[in-house]
Amino acid sequence: MRKIIITIDGYSSCGKSTLAKQLAKKLNYTYIDSGAMYRAVTLYFIQNRVDWLAPEKVHEALGNIHLEFVQNSLTGLGEMNLNGENVEHTIREMIVAEKVSEVAAVREVREFAVAQQKKMGTRKGIVMDGRDIGTVVFPHAELKIFMTAEIAIRVQRRFKELYEKNKNITLDEVKQNLELRDYIDANREISPLRKAEDAIILDNSHLTHDDQLQLVMQWVEDATMAH
Ligand code: DC
Repeated sequence: MRKIIITIDGYSSCGKSTLAKQLAKKLNYTYIDSGAMYRAVTLYFIQNRVDWLAPEKVHEALGNIHLEFVQNSLTGLGEMNLNGENVEHTIREMIVAEKVSEVAAVREVREFAVAQQKKMGTRKGIVMDGRDIGTVVFPHAELKIFMTAEIAIRVQRRFKELYEKNKNITLDEVKQNLELRDYIDANREISPLRKAEDAIILDNSHLTHDDQLQLVMQWVEDATMAH
């Protein structure tokens, strides 16, 4: 079957990466987590005390950042490496989550990430998730999905994920972080989160993973035939 580009955009904790990984596995595509790139830049800025509101500091720091997805031989998935160090787990911590939306709103950071993301799509057969993938990174993608889910359900999902690593986290903290991130992501000046005109909306509040995958596989088939 011909290979296509699949983009998945949407709010935080809608299950974008779960769906993207399932699709990549089923279709033998490469999964690219664009958010991991913004998270890794944020981690670098925090660790090196870079003031992301100062354009010249950002410019200088980005020149020292090398991002790469290195394949984990067990899972087959790409893991985020920052200057040669595997940071796949560190970038999921709350300290990064609290700042990443601010960093992702900086023009030069976005240009830095988007340029690399566009290159990854020169060969088809990829699934990339994020906030601006269908609108900015791959405006000509064959299949665009815009995911949403009810806020209470998203908070529960993220809480479960974070609680496994940190038993001190509260539901309220998670809710506040999600709401704030959604707000910043959707209201920033450059490439705000929005649905591409030709994206299909997927509300998975009440769908099981299996039902969701079955539904989307049908869309993949349709998109592949149509192009
Ligand atoms: O998908 P995620 O939660 O790992 O993304 C982390 C942050 O990065 C999120 O708050 C918004 C930002 N992001 C973005 O601005 N554009 C993308 N394509 C992906 C993520």
